[in-house]
Amino acid sequence: MKNLKNYNIKNKKILFRADLNVPVVDGLIKDTARIKAIQSSIEILISNKNKIFLMAHFGRPKGEILDQYSLNFILPSLKEILNLDKVYFLENFDQASVEKTVNEMQAGNLCLIENIRFLKEEENIDLNFAKKISSLFDVYVNDAFSASHRNHTSITGFPKFLPAVAGNHMINEIDNINSFLDNAKKPNMAIVGGSKISTKIQLLNNLIEQFSVVAIGGAMANTFLLANNYNVGKSLVEKELIQEANNIQLKAKKSNCELILPTDVLCGKNIHDTNPVHRNIHDMSSDEMILDIGDASTQLINNKIINSKMVLWNGPVGAFEFKPYDKATNAIANVIKINAKKLKINILAGGGDTVSAIKNTNTEDGFTYISNAGGVFGFHRWDEET
Ligand code: 3PG
Ligand code: MG
Repeated sequence: MKNLKNYNIKNKKILFRADLNVPVVDGLIKDTARIKAIQSSIEILISNKNKIFLMAHFGRPKGEILDQYSLNFILPSLKEILNLDKVYFLENFDQASVEKTVNEMQAGNLCLIENIRFLKEEENIDLNFAKKISSLFDVYVNDAFSASHRNHTSITGFPKFLPAVAGNHMINEIDNINSFLDNAKKPNMAIVGGSKISTKIQLLNNLIEQFSVVAIGGAMANTFLLANNYNVGKSLVEKELIQEANNIQLKAKKSNCELILPTDVLCGKNIHDTNPVHRNIHDMSSDEMILDIGDASTQLINNKIINSKMVLWNGPVGAFEFKPYDKATNAIANVIKINAKKLKINILAGGGDTVSAIKNTNTEDGFTYISNAGGVFGFHRWDEET
């Protein structure tokens, strides 16, 4: 694979794909790992006097220009982390604007392009657009491992027209995850959380085939509970995926994979309710929502962790950005910190929110490797779509 160590790029115009989809709560960046990830590649490219155009997405604006998804907010952090006095900002990603900015920039300058998902051409792969834009650049660099499972123009389109080079972070992620997976040992366990099954169907299907235990938490567990006819009150659910949840449960049975769903939960009237009620899942009340897994469920997961040889964790098991619904996620992170090295358990964690939760709890020590990638784990090929 062409990369920055075996392929020299000097005095060129570079189209650089980063994953700047950082976790943000109330307008504040909760974790900067995804910005730091590109630092090494960007430093090399700057010192080699390239003009770099940084292309990234934020959220899922689906081809519409929506203020709340502008990437403008990230400029101060970008400057600070990359130690730059100035970063250009390109609002319109079209030929005239790119050419104008290229002329204004000096060798070694950086320009951030506005959210690539504001363009319809991004998700409906548009090769004419990719070709036209590519003609303005010399090289395409992909350092966005955690977004590379998307079959979008910024990932799979530009490399069709430009020499494509992997960034340092991309190489680092691939090496670490491969070495983790090459050392597969059973019994192994996967913990999957987060809000939606829809984005993790493929991940769950793959994990069930490969892991002895798969524990499901987060809002995603609610759809499974609903599929099993529990009253989940006002909890976040994806009703259209009940059948999918049933299929996954069936597949788990057939594959001899123990699927763990919460048996008790923490509920609130809404996400800002700071007086949660602890309930058995048989006793849910219709005006409440499930916001975290309960103590018994957490305990069960923690016991499984310490009896595993290998653990993969993707997605918080509760609404961890809102206290006290970070309790179970924090407890899991702490059990890993205390036991993983001692018991020689290999632990791989990944995903923007998961990384943020691990940092919040200062539990990084316990993990064999922490990846910026979440969704990518579920893919055999990076260009498959969820
Ligand atoms: C992520 O946050 O997992 C990546 O940036 C990909 O984002 P997406 O799931 O919205 O494609
Ligand atoms: Mg995601």
